Amino acid sequence: MKKRIVLLPGDGIGKEVIHSAKDVLQAIAEEYNHSFCFETHEIGGAAIDLYGTPLPETTVDACKQADAVLLGAVGGPKWDNNPSHLRPEKGLLGIRKALDLFANLRPIKGFKNLLHASPLKEEVVSGSDLLIVRELTGGLYFGTPSERRDNGNTVVDTLSYTRKEIERIVDKGFQAAQQRRGHLTSVDKANVLESSKLWREVVEEKKAQYPDVAVEHVLVDAAAMKLITNPTHFDVIVTENLFGDILSDEASVLTGSLGMLPSASLREDGLGLYEPVHGSAPDIAGKGVANPVAMILSAALMLRYSFQLEDEAKVIEDAVQSILDTGFHTGDLQVANGRLVGTAEMTKLIVDYIKSQN
Ligand code: NAI
Ligand code: MG
Repeated sequence: MKKRIVLLPGDGIGKEVIHSAKDVLQAIAEEYNHSFCFETHEIGGAAIDLYGTPLPETTVDACKQADAVLLGAVGGPKWDNNPSHLRPEKGLLGIRKALDLFANLRPIKGFKNLLHASPLKEEVVSGSDLLIVRELTGGLYFGTPSERRDNGNTVVDTLSYTRKEIERIVDKGFQAAQQRRGHLTSVDKANVLESSKLWREVVEEKKAQYPDVAVEHVLVDAAAMKLITNPTHFDVIVTENLFGDILSDEASVLTGSLGMLPSASLREDGLGLYEPVHGSAPDIAGKGVANPVAMILSAALMLRYSFQLEDEAKVIEDAVQSILDTGFHTGDLQVANGRLVGTAEMTKLIVDYIKSQN
């Protein structure tokens, strides 16, 4: 398989962990006979410094022509006092919008060796392995009007969805469930919100197209509770933008470290942008100690969702689990009797495991 991948390192540890993802993908290409061609472009603070804008046209054009995009992270104290159009985060929001990335996927898994890192009881988190599919370009964050009235004393936000917007994200939820354990939880607030009533109707209509998926509807407040009292109940959760934003942050505590969490943002035709959940970590940037796992697992998601290379994605995920099981860890993780390694060594261990498997 021949693919063009755009790399957007961004700022801080983004620049470090992007190399790890590239090394891992090159190992996959060699072992499984694929040809991945990489092109690097600027975004965020790095782009502001070089071109005076957080999202240069050349970056947008390159991403539009690519088969997939890998992004490190953007931001840092250097640009914190910039006016809002010259903030690194503008680059991130801009590229999501320019590519119409409407589906945000966040897998969350309690890694065996790291369960005690979670504030939740080990027996509660143990075995949890779920995927949140969040609508990313509609709902309350984009609805109009969104404004102040009455001299600022009355405020309005608008939660608006079209049937088409709901259908495409619900399809993504069903398809993800088919690739996993066949269980879909649709989260809404259908006892109160009109938007949620249509959401629930669409899920009910779509059910017939996916007979191999078992579906349940859970109200968002109950889902929030169940996520931390019984996380192993869930396989795939599909939900609208605001609910997904809150539930995905809540679910992230199951793993215990930001450095372990990947994400995917997808367009309808399969183009995707893949990035770790964490930021540019200015406190450890440039030291070679960042955990590359979230970025590497993001590359695995790219193989799965944009290229349909499920076996190759699994090999990367197995490599990560195996290296952690052996006790190797970066400084953000506490592992009993573990061996502390830096970004480069962690990456090499994962690459070597992949090469040993084929
Ligand atoms: P952060 O995620 O960068 O860091 C939070 C804490 O977690 C820090 O102590 C950091 O050292 C640690 N950490 C994060 N990722 C790690 C990794 N891979 N390995 C080891 N330790 C890791 O969040 P923070 O500090 O709130 O934001 C820093 C900058 O990043 C800000 O400019 C912020 O706007 C930006 N940011 C960018 C995001 C993105 O590009 N998607 C997301 C979140 C924040
Ligand atoms: Mg958030």
